[in-house]
Amino acid sequence: MNLAQTVFGAEFQNPVLLASGTAGYGRELDGVVELDALGGIVTKAVTLEPRSGNPPLRAAEYWAGMLNSIGLANVGLDAFRAGKLPWLRQRLRHARILVNVAGSTVADYVGVVDGLDGEDGFVGYELNVSCPNVKEGGAAFCARADLLAEVVGAVRRRTARPLVVKLAPNLPDMAATARVAVDAGADGLTLINTFPGLLFDVDDRRAVLGAGTGGVSGPGVLPMGVYSVWRASQAVDVPIIGVGGIRSGDDAVQYLLAGADLVQIGTATFGDPRAAERVLNELRRYGRRHRIDHVRELVGAGTVHGGNH
Ligand SMILES: Cc1cc2nc3c(=O)[nH]c(=O)nc-3n(C[C@H](O)[C@H](O)[C@H](O)COP(=O)(O)O)c2cc1C
Repeated sequence: MNLAQTVFGAEFQNPVLLASGTAGYGRELDGVVELDALGGIVTKAVTLEPRSGNPPLRAAEYWAGMLNSIGLANVGLDAFRAGKLPWLRQRLRHARILVNVAGSTVADYVGVVDGLDGEDGFVGYELNVSCPNVKEGGAAFCARADLLAEVVGAVRRRTARPLVVKLAPNLPDMAATARVAVDAGADGLTLINTFPGLLFDVDDRRAVLGAGTGGVSGPGVLPMGVYSVWRASQAVDVPIIGVGGIRSGDDAVQYLLAGADLVQIGTATFGDPRAAERVLNELRRYGRRHRIDHVRELVGAGTVHGGNH
């Protein structure tokens, strides 16, 4: 099966990417996984200023995945531009780079994009719009159509590079939100970010995470992610990157059938640093087994009888 996908005007040698926040800035996995054999890597979030993140404990496992509240800990724009991006640019010849951008205000997002747009070596931006908007009482940007349109529109006016908007799964109407993002200028969507969650230590009755609540990821979110991609793909006509709970080639196929052009591997990398490579190999085997010539034959090829919710 030919795995190459041309998306956002760039050729991805295969559709398997590493998800934001689970592969650092690439260097952390260098030598463990053959980064340059993957479709690409999405960087850890980049914010205008460095962030130290939330107090410990920041991550906890449970039987269907994990709960995390890293709090967007990252080196900030200047250190990313000076150290992290040059390393990635120099190291990767074939794998594509998307820069994940986060912020607390619209100006934060615009500032990061303004600061990076003159640099080369990356395909485009992935906007994490699940962040709380501090000027709007902490509402997530993607939870309100007006805030979502404002942040996507503001960034759109500053860059000609591909803009991929990453949405949370806990939205009342994924189709409507996807339309808002695309109407405001998104060239693509990444679905899904983590789902809000809370777990207690049942012996001392306190929340396990230092920050209290966090985001759920891992195998348990797979059907939510596949559903979100399927809903969005019916509503908009832009490429979609599917992410959430992928551990195997078959899990990746789920997202492709729902309408994703590319997929990302997140939490699975923590359990097995070579998970993305394995998913890729399993995807190849799936293609051979089903005699598929090109991976694009799978995109949106799933049928859903009766269900339109
Ligand atoms: C520890 C951790 C850190 C993450 N950091 C980010 C981040 O900085 N920006 C972002 O957009 N998503 C972040 N995510 C979300 C992942 O990229 C992904 O959307 C989500 O975990 C679902 O995929 P998975 O089940 O394969 O992990 C993070 C997830 C985890 C588990």
